[in-house]
Amino acid sequence: MSLKLKPAIFLLSLIGVGLIVLSAFSDCNGWLQSFAPTACFSDKNANVLFVRRLNRSIKPFLSAKTKLSEDDFNWWKRIQIEHRDFAFYKNTVSKLFEIFPPVPDLGKACSERCRTCAVVGNSVNLKGSRYGRLIDYQDVIIRMNFAPTKGFEEDVGTKTTYRVMYPESASDLDNSTHLVLFPFKIQDLDWLMKAFTTGFSGRSYAPLKSKINANKDLVKVINPAFMKYSHMVWLEGKGTYPSTGFMTLILALHICDEIHVFGYGADSDGNWSHYFEALENKNLKTGPHPGQHEYEIIKQLADEKTVELHQGS
Ligand SMILES: *[C@@H]1O[C@H](CO)[C@@H](O)[C@H](O)[C@H]1NC(C)=O
Ligand SMILES: *[C@@H]1O[C@H](CO)[C@@H](O)[C@H](O)[C@H]1NC(C)=O
Ligand SMILES: *[C@@H]1O[C@H](CO)[C@@H](O)[C@H](O)[C@H]1NC(C)=O
Repeated sequence: MSLKLKPAIFLLSLIGVGLIVLSAFSDCNGWLQSFAPTACFSDKNANVLFVRRLNRSIKPFLSAKTKLSEDDFNWWKRIQIEHRDFAFYKNTVSKLFEIFPPVPDLGKACSERCRTCAVVGNSVNLKGSRYGRLIDYQDVIIRMNFAPTKGFEEDVGTKTTYRVMYPESASDLDNSTHLVLFPFKIQDLDWLMKAFTTGFSGRSYAPLKSKINANKDLVKVINPAFMKYSHMVWLEGKGTYPSTGFMTLILALHICDEIHVFGYGADSDGNWSHYFEALENKNLKTGPHPGQHEYEIIKQLADEKTVELHQGS
């Protein structure tokens, strides 16, 4: 590179940094949007895990138009031993979109600029971390299951844009939070419809809420093909199937430009408990999920700077 070019490049990068800082203060509809940098991941080295494994042709959310292949259905139905067949699945999904918006709005209103996300897991390493303000500062805040914010605001923040859940981990949401359902069996889709309408009376391996308070227009359902891809591509088929936390991180790779990860993994003593409950069982591991392997993938994504991993206390 010629020596004359260097100052120009330096100046350009200064302007770039300036714009990033400015855009952080503008909202989605702000005038700065048109000046802001595009995708934060654009200059990635082709060798990194993110580039090697991310497949944008796999759509994270089901829509009325999603065509699940029979192969994908067969992968999905074995994770929680679904006995009903593919035709029954398809019939259930078609009813789903009579109740919920048929083509979910990805909400990518500000795709012109870098969309920053906080993915907030439930690890005890959040306790005493004082990450609350940093979490709330991101554009999109993704939380999991029934993890509370009340009483833990200093460490976990207050805002929730997306809350991922499955029926056994469901909680009521406020009107502006998106409910993102991870379905593990056909009953989960049925639960979703009934929890918003007549009430659900079936059973599962854990108690289920019969009704849920949440905004019906903000419901999104994860595509079973996306769950399979998280397992087969991102975890190379290890374990029985990925944890909700891991799949949520892969979801973030698809819908966010810049990702801050909080509350994943064990604490510095190696405890894998939740920030909101006392550790009862030291052997609490990660069930059918390959927890350690999942965490290694997340660390690798952090090492290559695809995500920023905030490891807490
Ligand atoms: C991405 O996924 C699609 C659908 O499963 C598949 O056909 C395609 O080969 C994948 N692309 C890569 C690069 O793996
Ligand atoms: C919730 O939001 C919807 C629009 O998505 C609106 O129609 C409804 O009135 C809101 N409900 C409450 C209680 O604010
Ligand atoms: C974590 O594990 C250590 C060592 O077993 C124990 O002393 C400590 O109380 C645990 N921490 C929490 C938050 O439960």
